Amino acid sequence: ADLRPRNTLALPARAARLATIRSADEARALAADPRWRGVPRFVLGGGSNLVLCGDFAGLVLQAALPGRALAGEDAEAVYVSAGAGENWHDFVQWTLAAGHPGLENLSLIPGTVGAAPIQNIGAYGLEVCERFAHLDALDLETGETRRFDAAACRFGYRDSVFKQQGWHLCGRFLILAVTFRLPRAWAPLTGYAEVAAELDRCGIARPTAAEVAAAVVAIRRRKLPDPATIPNAGSFFQNPVVAAEQAAALKAAHPALPTYAQADGRVKLAAGWLIEQAGWKGRNLGPVGMYEKQALILVNRGGATGADVRALAAAVQADVRARFGVALEPEPIYFPA
Ligand code: EPU
Repeated sequence: ADLRPRNTLALPARAARLATIRSADEARALAADPRWRGVPRFVLGGGSNLVLCGDFAGLVLQAALPGRALAGEDAEAVYVSAGAGENWHDFVQWTLAAGHPGLENLSLIPGTVGAAPIQNIGAYGLEVCERFAHLDALDLETGETRRFDAAACRFGYRDSVFKQQGWHLCGRFLILAVTFRLPRAWAPLTGYAEVAAELDRCGIARPTAAEVAAAVVAIRRRKLPDPATIPNAGSFFQNPVVAAEQAAALKAAHPALPTYAQADGRVKLAAGWLIEQAGWKGRNLGPVGMYEKQALILVNRGGATGADVRALAAAVQADVRARFGVALEPEPIYFPA
């Protein structure tokens, strides 16, 4: 199977076998099938956080489980759930249209509902863990279905137990469905300066959830390349979190460096700023480059391979380290590693 149309960086790779999973029963049948015992597996969602490094001799499971539903309610919150294969943005818009605000700041993030908790997607002042109730996943080793609540997911910045345990690379769990908790008490999250500025520009003082969603969509369309026209995987590096002393020293040397204090006393730095200052904004290496409007986005200018991506990532990491003494961690998953 050709994986090139299934990853938003449009990197070439083939899988020995690809199975599209449309239901929990299909997934269970596959887990029980003796022909697939011991065969390496990989679970693919929207392919929007993936660097394909070469061909895969195993079985790729394309998570395509459908469905969206109101899953319950109590005095404080409503619960909505969706199949892992649902498109994330469409799901968010559906919750808003159904009158359940709470996910609007995460509008237009590429990918699927099932992939959202794996890297704890976040944007414009909200992380998905803040609206997460639980997920149901099929353990492809035992054939058992397991429910993970928020604590079991061990969420962190762009992180979860699925990444911590390497389960996302070995295809251990197939996420079937995710349930979100949307508190009835709602207020717009406009703390992110860009969101506030966009609403201001539109003359909106007290935005509805739909208006916040529209503002986020407008900001993203302006700054982030659409993978359909310029292949990319969103932010290519995580924003590095460093000790307060290191951040203070960097800030003294570079007063314009954007810094964000963290709850644990450490400080998050803007990787895009570091990359821009290191001279990589809009600069290419071979067929890949760092995007001219947002230096944190690595783009495929056409015909790139995983090796080209690795080479540019290494060059950017080396220059940022040499200039600022800061290590950048890639955000997407390299596969096969
Ligand atoms: N900046 C520059 N030059 C650049 C890019 C950014 O100086 O080329 C500066 C900006 O001026 C700003 C700061 O860096 O002061 C932060 O930039 P921005 O608001 O664009 O956000 P980001 O930190 O680059 C993060 C997330 C995005 C998310 C946005 C909005 C990560 C790795 N990325 O980007 O998430 O949409 O904030 O909340 O945390 C993703 O994870 O794929 C992603 C797109």
